[in-house]
Amino acid sequence: MKNKKRMTVFKYTGLIVGCLIVVSCQQPKKQVIWQSYSGDPIIEQKVDSVLSLMTLDEKIGQMNQYSGNFASTGAVSDNQSGEYLKRGMIGSTFNVFGADHLRMLQEQNLKYSRLKIPMLFAADVIHGLETTFPIPLAEACSWDLELMEETARAAAEEATASGVAWNFAPMIDIARDPRWGRVMEGAGEDVFLASAVARARVRGFQGISDYRDLSKPNTMMACAKHFVGYGAAQAGRDYHSVDVSERSLYDTYFPPFEAAIDEGVTSFMTAFNDLNGVPCTANNYLYKDILREAWGFKGMVVTDYTAIMELMHHGFARDLKHGAQLSLDAGIDMDMISEAFVTHLKELVEEGKVSEKQIDVAVSRILEMKFLLGLFDDPYRYFDAERQKQVVMSEANQSLARQAAQQSIVLLKNEGKLLPLSTDQALKVALIGPFVDERASLNGEWAIKGNRSRSVTLREGLEAKYKGTGVQFTYAKGTDLPLLDRSTMKASKDNQPDERGFAEAIKVAKASDIILVAMGENFHWSGEAACRTDITLPGNQRELLKALKQTGKPVVLVLFNGRPLDLSWEAENLDAIVEAWYPGLMAGHAVADVLSGAVCPSAKLVMTFPRNVGQIPIYYNAKNTGRPFDAKAPSDYKSSYIDVDNTPLFPFGHGLSYTTFEYTNIMLNAESFEQGEAITLKADIVNSGDYDGTEIVQLYIRDRVASITRPVKELKDFRKVALRKGETKTIEFTIDEALLSFRDRNLNWTTEPGEFDIWLGTSSNDESNHFVISFN
Ligand code: BGC
Repeated sequence: MKNKKRMTVFKYTGLIVGCLIVVSCQQPKKQVIWQSYSGDPIIEQKVDSVLSLMTLDEKIGQMNQYSGNFASTGAVSDNQSGEYLKRGMIGSTFNVFGADHLRMLQEQNLKYSRLKIPMLFAADVIHGLETTFPIPLAEACSWDLELMEETARAAAEEATASGVAWNFAPMIDIARDPRWGRVMEGAGEDVFLASAVARARVRGFQGISDYRDLSKPNTMMACAKHFVGYGAAQAGRDYHSVDVSERSLYDTYFPPFEAAIDEGVTSFMTAFNDLNGVPCTANNYLYKDILREAWGFKGMVVTDYTAIMELMHHGFARDLKHGAQLSLDAGIDMDMISEAFVTHLKELVEEGKVSEKQIDVAVSRILEMKFLLGLFDDPYRYFDAERQKQVVMSEANQSLARQAAQQSIVLLKNEGKLLPLSTDQALKVALIGPFVDERASLNGEWAIKGNRSRSVTLREGLEAKYKGTGVQFTYAKGTDLPLLDRSTMKASKDNQPDERGFAEAIKVAKASDIILVAMGENFHWSGEAACRTDITLPGNQRELLKALKQTGKPVVLVLFNGRPLDLSWEAENLDAIVEAWYPGLMAGHAVADVLSGAVCPSAKLVMTFPRNVGQIPIYYNAKNTGRPFDAKAPSDYKSSYIDVDNTPLFPFGHGLSYTTFEYTNIMLNAESFEQGEAITLKADIVNSGDYDGTEIVQLYIRDRVASITRPVKELKDFRKVALRKGETKTIEFTIDEALLSFRDRNLNWTTEPGEFDIWLGTSSNDESNHFVISFN
């Protein structure tokens, strides 16, 4: 009988659909106990028919996920994956790549899986597979949703050709604390922008129509992570507890996840942290009440890495078995690494502590994804060595990486229009700093398969750009980047760079017209578990800057880093600052494009740069308080510090250009409106400067009086407008009731009549174009 079933189920080549329908017709009609993602009755029937043939062990195996440290035979070093593989009990593996390698793994899996259920391969393709795009925080600074969709699309092209059909991205945690190392993976502090970015990235990975796009060989499942509040870790320390109000969840941390669902995201990942006392990985409120019931999410949920096991460290589960029970109860479908489900679920069913029905639901969700991806039709469909050769690191992807990096670079300061350094002049440039030749860090921490030896350094980019021109470079490193001692996970004291290189750097600087300094954070200093309490430039880089400043030459600082830094000294003392973030593969070329003026910088910050760590969390859309500080009329007992201003060093939305933009003819077609109506805001944006350029026009709104205290302003819309020198374009915004709405005391959406401030500007602190409207 077993053999017969196997033959019936496992004929992918064209016959599978027919066979499965036959199987399900032959079986007594099984009650459907799960709600499918696709809502497609044929898929539901297929899932049902496979499920009905599975033993309990086989079902539990589908809920088991490993990281890919398989040897070719399936043996592994530190877990039971080899054993479970031989029993056909692995549903998914991540961190394994390559069409040929994965074909081999799939063959192994199918050899052992009685029902020949294909394995699903996953990976963290956070900002490109081999073609590394800028880190997500940087890309978000482009405010270019189409571009972000395109880079996600290109990442999916490369990943799927290399065997990976499930992406652990996008990371959509709102983050307002730059001490936290993972701010580099998200889209910054703002709910509106981050939600739009979440949508763009989901579209890019999964395709743009609906679940049917998933069946294409070049699209992949996206995963909204980490649900939820991970970015609000106390004191900016990774994995730390999160204690936020329900209001904060609804107003700040939930919206990007709701947006991802709305865009059709197929999977969610839990967060490591506990949320208001309950670890997310076993949080019924989050996964049952909110995700499944309130939002109707029908895709699958995977834990974060060993998160079930960590329930014990949280002091929430007595042991791994208890953890398995708690997380299954919360609605988790797949266990990443902990081996909690695969070790204990059967026992828990036998003891009556969990039901087989719960397991069926989880497995159905997993099987549905495998059907939607087309894995049952052809389990080898993503292992396309030919396509891999064509798309991975293709010319098109590399040029997209350059474009994305150009669009992500933020010009923070440009005193006296020192930049750009045009190619048609005679200029001696001293090129100084540890990032001039740094290659490995340019991709940032999460460059999964990005070859760190291929990224273009700053020096290479500059030399290519200025070759044959009158601009000459002389070089001195000056100092080193302090590294991380991986054994202690500390910035080792013995490892601190010394000042031996300063003298040479000063000599080179003195003999030049201008000093171009490249500094930042080694990539291990910014990313998961890379949190800092001091967010100034690491090591003695600031000391070197001070020494260079003493030469009296103009200093341009180019930064490569993954978080907003404390640049208080730099902003006051240096002439120009360029925030390049970790730009990825084409780093040096893109920075040279911007420094030379071949590309006019247009990016705008998506996270506030504080004046010091004491201001954190600092974000533009805070509340006014009952005692707001007024810098124009300072007085005692106000909400302020005595040792630093309330204002940020660089605000959200800030970013300079080489050209200038004027906002003229700003017109509102009405000053008040009622329910069902809308106001149109029009403005002419003029490029009045000397370069072709792009302006990001930002619309902010403040609700003056409401039944819930409202932020001092909120981003509600924006336009990215490309303008040639002298060109004018008219832009238009619609202000309707939805734009003024907020969640009331019961967390229901409402719009209350009253007055609203409107600002149209180049940054969140630009209040030059201010209007007041009313909603009646
Ligand atoms: C991270 C996740 C990631 C997972 C698998 C975890 O440490 O928190 O974001 O997807 O590892 O690599």
